[in-house]
Amino acid sequence: MGGLTACAYPVQKPKIMGNTDSRVTIHMAASLDGFIARKDGRVDWLETSDQFAGGDTMSPELVEAFLKSIDCYVMGSRTYETALSFEAKGFGWPYGNKPIFVLTSRKLPRTRDTVEFYSGDLAHFVNGRLRPAFRSIWFVGGGVVSGECLRLGLADEVRYSILPILIGDGIPFFEKLDRDVVLHLAEVKGYKSGTVALCYEVRTCAQPAPTAVVTHL
Ligand SMILES: NC(=O)c1ccc[n+]([C@@H]2O[C@H](COP(=O)([O-])OP(=O)(O)OC[C@H]3O[C@@H](n4cnc5c(N)ncnc54)[C@H](OP(=O)(O)O)[C@@H]3O)[C@@H](O)[C@H]2O)c1
Repeated sequence: MGGLTACAYPVQKPKIMGNTDSRVTIHMAASLDGFIARKDGRVDWLETSDQFAGGDTMSPELVEAFLKSIDCYVMGSRTYETALSFEAKGFGWPYGNKPIFVLTSRKLPRTRDTVEFYSGDLAHFVNGRLRPAFRSIWFVGGGVVSGECLRLGLADEVRYSILPILIGDGIPFFEKLDRDVVLHLAEVKGYKSGTVALCYEVRTCAQPAPTAVVTHL
């Protein structure tokens, strides 16, 4: 996967409670038109064949070191189900032995000890449970959970790996955002694979936009 580099910009956001060193990152790979999967959930388009002359590469050692720096993963139930189906097809389990928190109100199969399920108030969970226990907390999808995380003002940074493809329709990166989220571009990297990795710091989460616009005063 391209785009696994560390943002250099320091976080200035106030935390509600918990470990002040902790950092919540949202990371996903998406098409240039902003989709993380096709409408039916397929991600076949993630394998692209582009070549960008002069682009960066990441050695397996660098990728391994980077993945080591992640302390836990958080994901929605549909992303978890996709990961389970990939594993069943022989593609492996990309999260190693790191703790994985799956958000769901359903009873899903628990295939390993590292998986824990949670249902309910996400802000309470992140600030009260995850931040005190982990430093580097990665939200890895999907669109519903990323949207929820941003709406609640829980994310410190957003990492967006743009793949060199347009797919026209699909599941959006951020589902149902009801407000502007002001970002600071902290890093841009282009990879040999044609993937562009963007890293943004989350600056503020504004109030929801008014529903009606007054055109005549
Ligand atoms: N391109 C990429 O990098 C990337 C990364 C990740 C995922 N994906 C793709 O994205 C798709 C899934 O994304 P998605 O937006 O449809 O779904 P999602 O965000 O993975 O999961 C959403 C579901 O999580 C559960 N949930 C969310 N918040 C909750 C809370 N606070 N408490 C309890 N349950 C909660 C709900 O399901 P319940 O009904 O279980 O309660 C909700 O419907 C898959 O196709 C996956 O392959 C792509």
